Amino acid sequence: MNKYDSEKMVGLLENSGIRLTENLDNADVIILNTCSIRDKAEHKVYSQLGRLSPLKKKNPNLIIGVGGCVAQIQGEKILQRAPQVDLVFGTLNINKLPKLIKEIEETGARIADIDSNSDIDTDSETIKRNGTVHAWVSIMHGCDNYCTYCIVPYTRGREKSRTKEAIFAEIRGLSEKGFKEVTLLGQNVNSYGKDLADDIDFPDLLSLIDKIDGIERIRYMTSHPKDLSDKLINAMADLPKACESLHLPIQSGSDNVLYNMKRGYTSEEYLKKIDKVKEAIPKISLSSDIIIGFPGETDDDFEKTRDIIKSVRYDGIFLFKYSPRPETPASEFLNQIPNDVKQTKFEEIMKLQNEITLSKNKELEGRVLEILIEGRGKNDNNKLMGRTRTNKIVTIPSLTKEGEGGFEKEDLTGKLINVKITKGNLYGLDGTSVSVSS
Ligand code: 5AD
Ligand code: SF4
Repeated sequence: MNKYDSEKMVGLLENSGIRLTENLDNADVIILNTCSIRDKAEHKVYSQLGRLSPLKKKNPNLIIGVGGCVAQIQGEKILQRAPQVDLVFGTLNINKLPKLIKEIEETGARIADIDSNSDIDTDSETIKRNGTVHAWVSIMHGCDNYCTYCIVPYTRGREKSRTKEAIFAEIRGLSEKGFKEVTLLGQNVNSYGKDLADDIDFPDLLSLIDKIDGIERIRYMTSHPKDLSDKLINAMADLPKACESLHLPIQSGSDNVLYNMKRGYTSEEYLKKIDKVKEAIPKISLSSDIIIGFPGETDDDFEKTRDIIKSVRYDGIFLFKYSPRPETPASEFLNQIPNDVKQTKFEEIMKLQNEITLSKNKELEGRVLEILIEGRGKNDNNKLMGRTRTNKIVTIPSLTKEGEGGFEKEDLTGKLINVKITKGNLYGLDGTSVSVSS
């Protein structure tokens, strides 16, 4: 969501005549888009601001802005604590960014504007996409779930769905520009449409998007396990473009902890849904978010989390140490777990998951899979990088074709290629091309 918001900010600023620079020292405007999901992310903002201070001394006209979730929560406090900051803006008024910057340029005022609520959608033509193959598309904002550990409902507000027309138009526009893959974003996509006058839910939206020519793959995140419906599982199984990949965060394997987190499901209910998903979509790759060290978590609770990881055999997980967040109920719970205990358990789970991830990736060796090429390899320019439908990164040697000046590397960005997997690694797969399909 933050990456998508940054793409909006860059696009809005470019429209107002501000260009991106690769060189921080040359910048006239610096915007930090911040995250407050864990304490560490929040600390980063102030250390980053500290590093920007000398630039402000060199160039007094430099405008430093802070947006995103930390800005939304702290507002004015940022201006008080960090004198180098000129602007604090919230998650709901990103569209006002150019206007706010202009005001600062003209008046020299320091502004904290987190209360105003401009139209939350940014014109899709304005968004400056990072990449040419895959795009993020928000389908809804906010969250009404109030899990006891989570700050998101306080930073991003109440659930609000975008209309199907706006989403459809954005994705059709993307396909016209050559984009092949979209990830639909929402804190809980299963709530999509509940607040709209239209009688539409998330599986209906998926069916609509599946019909857009040119878009080859549809992904989404995040789906809340308590609301994952049979209708959605069936839609994923039936719709050709819905990828075989599901992020279904369990958070903990212990029913006690899940209850205290206010997640609204038991581990058994979760496992039943996973079984249904595996049955309907045998190739599905599964991922999850897991929190270690939630207040009151016992060794027995922790063992239950280990058990569930072993039983589901996720392709990957995002693992977090519980971090108390202001205003959230869990931050007030007694029995907070000491950091060293969290750290030891974190490492144990990481080790277990790494073994599972590696073994699942090795199981793919020798298989032929379709990948969508996103560009050159991250560390090796002679390689190409693509993703399987199951969201695994595959690196293959560059292909060459005969051009005017002899053999040259073929630009396959945006092409679907069948590759044979030669090696499964912890962080992805190696492969060789078998055929280019489109
Ligand atoms: N501490 C640790 N992890 C958290 N998450 C959300 N809030 C916290 C917190 N206070 C994790 C959850 C969520 C993911 C996006 O971040 O696992 O699914
Ligand atoms: Fe946070 Fe997700 Fe729970 Fe919403 S559903 S409160 S975003 S963890």
